[in-house]
Amino acid sequence: MKKGFKSIALLLVIMMFAALAAACSNDGGSSKVSVGIVLPTKDEPRWVQDETRFKDALKGTKYTTEILFSQGSSNKEKENVETLINKGIQVLIICPQDGAAAASAVEAAKDEGITVIAYDRLITGTDAVDYYVTFDSNDVGAKQAQYLVDNAKGSGEPLYLYAGAASDNNAFLFFEGAWKVLQPKIADGTFKIANSSEAEALKDKAELSRDEMAKIIGQVTTNWDANEAKNKAQTHLTAAAADMKGDVAILAPNDGTARSIADVFASDSAVTSYVVTGQDAEIASVQYVIDGKQSMTVFKDVRTLVKDAMGIAIAVLDGNTPETNGSYDNEKKEVQAKKTDVIVVNKDNVKKELIDSGYYKADQFKGL
Ligand code: BGC
Repeated sequence: MKKGFKSIALLLVIMMFAALAAACSNDGGSSKVSVGIVLPTKDEPRWVQDETRFKDALKGTKYTTEILFSQGSSNKEKENVETLINKGIQVLIICPQDGAAAASAVEAAKDEGITVIAYDRLITGTDAVDYYVTFDSNDVGAKQAQYLVDNAKGSGEPLYLYAGAASDNNAFLFFEGAWKVLQPKIADGTFKIANSSEAEALKDKAELSRDEMAKIIGQVTTNWDANEAKNKAQTHLTAAAADMKGDVAILAPNDGTARSIADVFASDSAVTSYVVTGQDAEIASVQYVIDGKQSMTVFKDVRTLVKDAMGIAIAVLDGNTPETNGSYDNEKKEVQAKKTDVIVVNKDNVKKELIDSGYYKADQFKGL
C-alpha cells in the first residue's frame, strides 16, 4: 500500500515536470517574435529615423519585435518577410520598397494567418493588406505647392517640378496634391513650367488621371535618389534658356532630393533666388532650413506613425478591433487606414515645431 502510494506520487511529480517542460517549450516566449517590422532602406535618414522611433516606443514593452531593412531590394524584402514568418510573427508591419512588387511577400504572410499593416507606403494590387498607417500624403504635396504659391514673385516665374519614385504609391499622392494647387497658378500665369514637356502638355487639366501623372513623374522622377536628383537638376539647368532662370520655384519631393537640387540651383549664377520644398524634417534639412538653403520641409511626426502602427498591432494581438479613421483604395480593396496630419516647417517655426516639441534637441543644430 505504502509502496503503491510512493510510486503514484513519483509518477505525478514526473507528469508535472513533463507538463511544465512542454509549456515552456511552446510559450511563444523569448525565442519568438510577435511583431515583425520591415523598412525599405538604411541609406535614407528618413527610415533610420523610423527605426529609432520604433525602438524608443518599444522600450520596456512586453512585445517582442524585430526590425529588418530591405536595402532598396524587393527580393531582400521578400526574404525578410520569410525570415519573420519563420520566427512566428503574428503581425507584420511593412513599408514596401515597391508598392506593387511587395504584394507577393505580404500574400505569403497572409497565408500564414499573419495580420499585415502597410506602413507609410501602401501595398497595391492585393487583398492581403489588412491595415494602412500613413500621413496625409495628398496634403504633403498640397502644402509644398501652397508654399511655392505663397512665395511666388510676381508672374511668369519658372517652376521646376521633381517627383518621387513611380514604384512608390506616395509619389502619386504627393504629386496629385501638389498639382491641384499649382495647376490654377500655372493657368493664371503665376508660374511657367520649366522642365517637363509632359506637364506642359497637361497644364490646362485641373485633375490628372494616374496615367497622366505617370507621364509627368516618368519625366521628372528622382527615384528618391539624391544623386539622380542632382544629375537631373544639372541637366535641366544646362538646358534652360535665360528666361527660365532668375527667381525660380522648385517642387522637390522630399528632403534628401531637396538638398541636392538646392545645391545645384545655388551654384548657378543665373539663378537669382530659389524657393524649394521638402518633406521629412531630416536633421540635415532642418539645418538647411535654418541656414536658408532649403525653404521649407513638411514635418511628419514619425512618433505618431509608430504609435499608430504598434497600436493596431497590439489591438490585433489582444484580439480587439483596431481603430481607423479612413480608407485607401489599393486597386483590390478599400484598406482601412489611420491617417495623420502634417505640419509645414520653415525658418519661422522650426524652433517651435521641432525643438520645443521635443522632437529634436537644440544641440543637434547650429544657428537656431
Ligand atoms: C515617404 C517619404 C520619403 C520617401 C523616400 C515616401 O514614401 O513617405 O517620407 O521621403 O518615401 O524614401
